[in-house]
Amino acid sequence: MDMYAFYACVGLLSILFYFFWIRLNSKRSATKLIPGWNKEPSDPVLGDLAVAMSAGSLHHYLAKQHKEGSSPVVSFWWRNKRVVSICSQKSFKDTENIYNRPAVIFAPCFDPLHGSNSIQSVNGDEWKRQGKMLRGTMRGDFLESFVPDLVVIAHETAKTWASGEPIHLLKSITRMTLKAILMTSLGNIFENDEGIDELAALYHVCKCEMDKRVLDVPPPQSQREKDFQSNLKVLQGYLKQMMKARRSNLQSGRKSLPLMDALLNSGDPEETIMSNVITFMGGFHTSGYFLTWTFYYLALHPEIQDKIMKEIVGKEASGEKLKEYVMSSNSYLRQFLDEAIRVSTVTSFSAHCPDKDVVVDGYHIPANTPIIQSLGVAMHDPNVWDNPQKFDSDRFGPRSKHAKRGHEFRPFGVSTLRRCPANHFTYIMSSIYVVILLQRFEFSTKDTNLTKKYGIATSPGHEIDFQVKTRE
Ligand code: HEM
Repeated sequence: MDMYAFYACVGLLSILFYFFWIRLNSKRSATKLIPGWNKEPSDPVLGDLAVAMSAGSLHHYLAKQHKEGSSPVVSFWWRNKRVVSICSQKSFKDTENIYNRPAVIFAPCFDPLHGSNSIQSVNGDEWKRQGKMLRGTMRGDFLESFVPDLVVIAHETAKTWASGEPIHLLKSITRMTLKAILMTSLGNIFENDEGIDELAALYHVCKCEMDKRVLDVPPPQSQREKDFQSNLKVLQGYLKQMMKARRSNLQSGRKSLPLMDALLNSGDPEETIMSNVITFMGGFHTSGYFLTWTFYYLALHPEIQDKIMKEIVGKEASGEKLKEYVMSSNSYLRQFLDEAIRVSTVTSFSAHCPDKDVVVDGYHIPANTPIIQSLGVAMHDPNVWDNPQKFDSDRFGPRSKHAKRGHEFRPFGVSTLRRCPANHFTYIMSSIYVVILLQRFEFSTKDTNLTKKYGIATSPGHEIDFQVKTRE
């Protein structure tokens, strides 16, 4: 054997030994017991859910569990199912390829509104089919084509804010986000904004009922269920009109509505199309809360308004420069938006379910155990973020440790395949609204302590004091 062959053999054996050693160690550490795993549920029906809600919210409960367990992986009971919650960067990395959603967590609070056939609820091959068809409809070239509509909506809002009437921030922003989804993706059948407001209100009533159902599912004959069904019927009536209007326009060369067109051309049953129309339309609720927080934080921080104003000089309220700017992820504006989404914790968790045993941050988790990804806990972990409660857009600066937005920052979900399909849409829409409205007004608020109401999405806890002053 010559020297080269000898060294090659030694090298190969070392590599084999290295991988054997890693495997052995990961198996050893995977025998660690997950805190809470051996505990009995506190209630035979609700499991630990009632205890969780009495902590203030699921988010508060998860934060407490992780702190008390001193562990990134903890376990508790979701009704009669043992679930696991995770919050570390390593645990997010280890679960990013799991994409099925656990029905035990989401079905009671999503299916009555969205239906069980929507992209939000289906798993496996059916999710892959729907994902391929729908998830690209709010990205890339489609997204670029949305810019002119978003600019129009922002200018309309500027007009109403300039009127001197008191501004009901949440209502005004909600109108803007719903109108954005209708005009760019589903079709706007309303002649005026009152129609949009009514649609938003109908959805809101249904969504609040869904929030309640995390803990408390009403019996089929109860008044709550009847009220929910009658609201849902009116909501669906409007959406049917929307589908009908688009069907009769499809052939007439009107501008494209990528999402609605994909749905109507899919050959899917009407019920599935309706489920997906409601699911995507519902994105106005989450993004509406997010943008409301965004304008509140701007009002609270005049120095941030100044910094963004300096950055946007020369980017006219329309045209290529604006498009280029809002599409960029390297701006101070994007740092600010990311800090707003982090501090507000708009969505505090996502959940997925592995179809085989997995090792997550050193813990062994059996197949079919729902895994809650505690996005909100991760985004406020004091071991990862300096002074996590402080609003500081510079923490995302180009030379900062969070510049790359690693696994510690996953507001749109952890799953590489299944994270929110409207994340880019949300950034572009928010950027355009901020740029255009900030060019017209200075914002202020006397409300220095806005509380949070955690639900499926996190809303402001009370009406916001929000003032605007027209710029010279
Ligand atoms: C600030 C705004 C938003 C946030 C923070 C947010 C967050 C999320 C999160 C955490 C998920 C779950 C991801 C996962 O399971 O890994 C999700 C899913 C989803 N979001 Fe969003 N979202 C936002 C806006 C929107 C908007 C505007 C729309 C629609 C126009 C939308 C439509 C959806 C849909 C359809 C899904 C399910 C996707 C699937 O299962 O394949 N979201 N979002």
